[in-house]
Amino acid sequence: MDQSGDSWWKDGIFYQVYPRSFQDSDADGVGDIKGILDRLPYLASLGVDAVWLSPIFPSPMADFGYDISDYTGIDPLFGTMKDFDALVDAAHSSGLKIVLDLVPNHTSEQHPWFVESRSSRDNVMRDWYIWRDPGPDGGPPNNWLSEFGGSAWTRDEATGQYYYHAFLAQQPDLNWRHPAVREAIHEVMRFWLRKGVDGFRVDVIWHLIKDAEFRDNPPNLFYREGRPPHEKILTQYSTDQPEVHDVVAGMRRVTEEFGSRVLIGEIYLPLERLVAYYGNDLQGAQMPFNFALLSTLWSARSIEKIVTDYERMLPPGAWPNWVLGNHDRPRVASRIGREQARIAAMLLLTLRGTPTLYYGDEIGMHQVAIAPDQVRDPFERNVPGLGVGRDGCRTPMQWDATPNAGFSTSAPWLPLAGDFTDENVVSLDRDARSILNLYRALIRLRKETPALVLGSYTPIAAHGDLLLYRRQHEGKALVIALNFGAEPVSVTSSSIGFDGELLLSTFLDRQGESIEGVLGLRGNEGVIVEVPLDRAA
Ligand code: NOJ
Ligand code: MG
Repeated sequence: MDQSGDSWWKDGIFYQVYPRSFQDSDADGVGDIKGILDRLPYLASLGVDAVWLSPIFPSPMADFGYDISDYTGIDPLFGTMKDFDALVDAAHSSGLKIVLDLVPNHTSEQHPWFVESRSSRDNVMRDWYIWRDPGPDGGPPNNWLSEFGGSAWTRDEATGQYYYHAFLAQQPDLNWRHPAVREAIHEVMRFWLRKGVDGFRVDVIWHLIKDAEFRDNPPNLFYREGRPPHEKILTQYSTDQPEVHDVVAGMRRVTEEFGSRVLIGEIYLPLERLVAYYGNDLQGAQMPFNFALLSTLWSARSIEKIVTDYERMLPPGAWPNWVLGNHDRPRVASRIGREQARIAAMLLLTLRGTPTLYYGDEIGMHQVAIAPDQVRDPFERNVPGLGVGRDGCRTPMQWDATPNAGFSTSAPWLPLAGDFTDENVVSLDRDARSILNLYRALIRLRKETPALVLGSYTPIAAHGDLLLYRRQHEGKALVIALNFGAEPVSVTSSSIGFDGELLLSTFLDRQGESIEGVLGLRGNEGVIVEVPLDRAA
């Protein structure tokens, strides 16, 4: 594929690195930039095209870097600006793009902007954040809740007003209605774009604008006991406001100043709202992250519905994308089980749209149990016992069977999975049929098969546990058949038309088999069949 032109983010495969947990180079138990640099050959050999780094900027780490105190620096924990420049250079020399995390919704409370803003009611930066008088009862200005527990408003003693924070009190929200805030963040973007970064993944982009009148949010009538408390109210007035699209378009204009870069938005919304983030005339985000696979029921039928709905709702010309895991959600191998994780891999890499992999999913990493005294995630600390903790999906990458899995020579900041001596890159590389080699084979096939990247998507059937769809492009058609169950299934070709050559099975043992009349799948098996076009339905 052409990696130099405008379409690299359409053709390519994205890979999220959570820097604290990828590779430690200085024996402090926390991953860092030099560590990532050392592991670039692995990423290049895996065949991914772009690496998105979760935040590496100076931060008090109340939310592990999503609380930034300097947007244009590097936290010493991760290294220096020199290390970063070296990483970008080395990545580009290996044909890899680097995408940074931009966190414009909120800063750290220690950011100099907030220090100024809170210092007095008439400070010039007062309106850079969201300050309101107390409500009529002297309490918070309205009923909005923090995603990490409690009111989203914290009273500041010095001035007697409340400031808004969608997340921790240590993460005050910026006021995106203020032109100076927009300009300041645009300058931050230009700073990194000038350094050669290839784009941004924008944190909680759908949160950026709040209701101008700060109306109370309505109750969530479907709230269930045992769910996190912030779900008791909807976010009707605190997120996804119409004016946000203007903000997104403003960011896109900045990336456009620099040519072929990508703007990705983190957005948890139903598909019909999500697709609005492509913007008017596609002038918004090129990749509003599609998280539908993260929360759907894992069945042939519900996945076919999601894919069909999404394909139907995409605005003309909009490019789709799919995500299977990230640093906020339980690992896919734990959500759906080890066997189905291989089906998920084949699904992700054969759907139409840019795939984003989460580090470690390619070696089948599962959720790691975190003992109460090991909890680091502020969400779990504030709202304990409901299973919201995100530490279990952020544990160190398992490189080899040496102590600390080759991640660090010191005790890692989070515990390692107990099975790392078997489940690691080195041992899975040696096992010809491992999940890692499945990922490698899928990535290779995707790269050499334009039908998998550019081809149309046509649903064929979702019967019981079997999902069938076709990808087709210029004289080449592929049928993908996935078994979502543990029992064998078979389907006859006559009505559907998939006689042809089997290119890949998730078990990596059927390549070259010729399919005539009947396609049989073992339990938890998925296959890709190349169908001569005259026989494709
Ligand atoms: C979304 C990030 O992915 C998550 O890790 C973080 O806690 C919140 N935004 C707040 O920044
Ligand atoms: Mg380190």
